[in-house]
Amino acid sequence: MSAAAGAAERLLIRDLAQVVTAPGTAAPLRGDALGEVEVMTDAYVLCEGHVIQAVGRMRDLAPLEGDVTEVDGRGRAAIPGLVDCHTHACFAGDRVNEFALRARGASYEELHAAGGGILATVRATREAGPDGLREAVRRHREWMLRVGTTTFECKSGYGLDRQTELGSLEAIRAEGGIATWLGAHAVPPEFDDADSYLDFAVAEVLPEAARLAEAADVFLERGAFDAEQARRYLSACRDAGLSLRLHGDQFTEAGAIPLAIELGARSVDHLEATGTAAARSLAASDVVGVLLPASALFLGRAMPPARDLIDSGAAVALATDFNPGSAYCESLPLVCSLAATQLRMSPEEALLACTVNAAHVLARADRLGRLALGFQADCVLIDAPDWRHLAYHLGGDLVSAVIEGGRMAWTR
Ligand code: NIG
Ligand code: FE
Repeated sequence: MSAAAGAAERLLIRDLAQVVTAPGTAAPLRGDALGEVEVMTDAYVLCEGHVIQAVGRMRDLAPLEGDVTEVDGRGRAAIPGLVDCHTHACFAGDRVNEFALRARGASYEELHAAGGGILATVRATREAGPDGLREAVRRHREWMLRVGTTTFECKSGYGLDRQTELGSLEAIRAEGGIATWLGAHAVPPEFDDADSYLDFAVAEVLPEAARLAEAADVFLERGAFDAEQARRYLSACRDAGLSLRLHGDQFTEAGAIPLAIELGARSVDHLEATGTAAARSLAASDVVGVLLPASALFLGRAMPPARDLIDSGAAVALATDFNPGSAYCESLPLVCSLAATQLRMSPEEALLACTVNAAHVLARADRLGRLALGFQADCVLIDAPDWRHLAYHLGGDLVSAVIEGGRMAWTR
């Protein structure tokens, strides 16, 4: 029997070894709730149009009338589509030479101070043009999809001139990303100092960036922008209607957490250098700590104090930080492995940190990050009968299919 004209398409993922999701609808998750998942065995997920219509046990599945596309889930586990809430996927070129220099002992900060690092990618990205920017985001988005990322945030920040910053935000949106204006990433060479660059960025770029992006971000760090400059930039962005994010405590504690709390930011990201006092104040706030262990690993730095943050009640998310300099890694499954092996997070905490809590950072936890009735039908099939292989299989090729908005977006 064919579906009635206009009826939404249905997709049934059946005979799954496990379906895993966070219980309830609360977000962000903290403390014990961050460690609790619901695991349903011998189960199905039914998608109708873009949303999930039902999740249940196979024995309770009533016969379905009409057209339904079926996916065989035998021997596989279903998890929610992964949400990468922190990427820098809009860049041209690469930094493989710099990577090799770092492998021989050069430091990331030294390369940055010498005009390499972020500014090397700025030179390449300015030359890419609108088509090149779109092509870059499309390519990187495809990489992310294949490892289970169905929603990605993406920052600008490699243009640092009006045309390339706005072009980056447009390319990110056109390729389905959630755009963040990282107007304060570095001081480009045509400006003498951070303050004169920020004068330009706020006056000339912000009005249009606020129309294209959902959030603004700043690199608050020695050699980039200090707390006072970050406050000025972020306040102007907030007044223009953007929500706020910060790169903070990556190398030094320079006041990012107090500033994030003061300004009501959605998140403060990195936190490798965060000390106990700031961790406590973050835990007592509504600001999410976004942990980026692939970046700490890639730069050979200390890991962020994840256990301390979680145990003191902070809401934490996990993300890749995918970028050409400090984290050339698009894989959230690998990040989950790092969370379990380096951050002492349980597989449950890792999963919920890159689904529910990451969706919360992006103000979408009401519809993303869970396999539950009415949520967007984004689902990843893991090629193992136990979902915890997500974190267990270090660098493994374990994603066998990705369903996005109720459609098969990628399969092996
Ligand atoms: O989050 N720290 C600042 N920004 C990026 C790195 C950007 C780059 O190296 O190109 C980060 O690590
Ligand atoms: Fe980053």
